[in-house]
Amino acid sequence: MGDEERTAARARGTVGGEGGRAEELQPATLAVHAGRPGWRGDGETGLPRTAGIPTSPPIHLSTAYWHPTAEDLDRAMAGEPGRYSYARFGSPTVAALEEALAALEGTEAACAYPSGMAAVFAALSAAGLGPGTSLLLSRDVYGATLALARDHFAPLGVEVRTVDATDLRAVAQALAETRPTAFLFESVSNPLLRVADGPELVRLAKAAGARVVVDNTFATPLGARPAEWGADFVVHSTTKFLAGHGDVLGGAVLSSAADRELLSARTKLIGSVPSPFDAWLALRGLRTLHVRLARQEENAARLADWLAGHPAVARVHYPGRPDHPDHEVARRVLRGPGAMVSADLAGGRPAASRLLASVRLWVPATTLGDCHSLVLYPAESSHRGLTPAERHALGIGDGLVRFSVGIEAFEDLRRDLARALAG
Ligand SMILES: Cc1ncc(COP(=O)(O)O)c(C=O)c1O
Repeated sequence: MGDEERTAARARGTVGGEGGRAEELQPATLAVHAGRPGWRGDGETGLPRTAGIPTSPPIHLSTAYWHPTAEDLDRAMAGEPGRYSYARFGSPTVAALEEALAALEGTEAACAYPSGMAAVFAALSAAGLGPGTSLLLSRDVYGATLALARDHFAPLGVEVRTVDATDLRAVAQALAETRPTAFLFESVSNPLLRVADGPELVRLAKAAGARVVVDNTFATPLGARPAEWGADFVVHSTTKFLAGHGDVLGGAVLSSAADRELLSARTKLIGSVPSPFDAWLALRGLRTLHVRLARQEENAARLADWLAGHPAVARVHYPGRPDHPDHEVARRVLRGPGAMVSADLAGGRPAASRLLASVRLWVPATTLGDCHSLVLYPAESSHRGLTPAERHALGIGDGLVRFSVGIEAFEDLRRDLARALAG
């Protein structure tokens, strides 16, 4: 298999062995195996064989690596894959996580970061933002991403504009007017779980000469693979579904090998690298992503239907239901409706406050994607920086609550919510 063939095979999620062996591996198998020493079956483990090959990637905490010969050190310092010199430049445990994420997302390469925001920043910077350039963002991007654009990039001389990404005509017009250097949108938005037509957005933005960044945190690589749409950079907060246990902050940018060179050259200078222990935790969590997500999606679908029939609920937002405005788009561009559900409580803010104070199993916390269920009130957390008028313009009402559905027994989750909604 030649280099080009191997790259194409990787992009299809195929693992090409050095000896010409090629296996079509399903995402579930990649989640479990990718990054494990010797997982490609090509005899390459990246580790010395004297003690046997560990079945799980070891946590290499060493900050530096010595080499027995000057020639070996030179090759490591030159950045030859699989050779290490100093942990800020790369380390085996972080590399194992990156390999697994790239395999799952179907990209040539991945660069891991200590948080999702570090990854968003790195992707936007690598996309070429600087004085005199412009950035187009979906108007309902994660609050910190919008703040990064307005409070960091705009003062540097980047023109920042937002657009409703579900309105393709508006996007086409904004692209024509601003000719942005970069366009960023989320494959599933927060908290209304809007699903824009990702493939069409990427096509429009590329035709306008923009580099495209897609935040795929809510969908996960099992729900969408934006690199297949042509996105240049796919961003994740691995803190959420990928790590999945609420115990490690992390992020990643998935890209071509050439863009990864640029990302890692900057990372070396900025020092925005995850610790090997954090990388190991994220990889450890990733191993069960497919079973967690399957259970979470099943629970989410049941929750959405139950909430829709509840008298205290005015409206449910779940892309898996036909009453969601993007249901048809979601069926076309996502592989599953996801594990997030939002609901407008008829009783507004007082009802939302009562709910958050009364739940026992649902954890009222500012995060998502954990194996335990979480509930959040956007007006006071993710969207507290907006005025009520700005929130209403986005469709975020005073009674809106967001549920990140976990893997618990659905009946227990339902009973806990039923009691909290009654109280
Ligand atoms: C869609 C999305 N992107 C990025 C981030 C930032 O991730 P982190 O908190 O890991 O920096 C978040 C955090 O909630 C998010 O929801």
